[in-house]
Amino acid sequence: MIAGRIAALFAAVSMILMSACAPEGGKAAGSAKALLEQNTCLACHRLDGVAIGPAFVNVAERYGDRPDAVDYIAGRIASGSTGHWGSGQMPSFAALDEGKRKTIAKYILSLAKAK
Ligand code: HEC
Repeated sequence: MIAGRIAALFAAVSMILMSACAPEGGKAAGSAKALLEQNTCLACHRLDGVAIGPAFVNVAERYGDRPDAVDYIAGRIASGSTGHWGSGQMPSFAALDEGKRKTIAKYILSLAKAK
């Protein structure tokens, strides 16, 4: 029964999606890379190299000298963005708590290449 197979597949996929969106516990939660993976950031961004959004290396280089760089980037993740890098649109991730956004921001800034 093809319909049954499709239903089973659908159930499996939604279980995977649900576990990906579930509030994560454990050690991985603290890891910036895990946060990037869990929040679909890497669907649009690469660490190095332009994708739909700017490379995180370039973000780090653009804002790295700002004294408020961590707060700025954490804020931009919450607000979403358009017009800073082109015509692409970055959705808002306001549901991510500030601590997680700052963990990500620090990680992005750590990618800046030594000058
Ligand atoms: C649907 C695609 C998409 C997703 C998903 C996405 N981004 Fe973006 N992001 C973009 C685009 C496009 C831009 C450039 C926006 C602009 O030009 O202002 C951007 C810009 C940024 C910037 C630079 C903002 C600035 O002020 O210059 C940061 C930092 C960033 N994204 C981080 C993230 C993080 C962290 C996540 C996951 C929580 C994420 N993005 C998810 C598309 C995305």
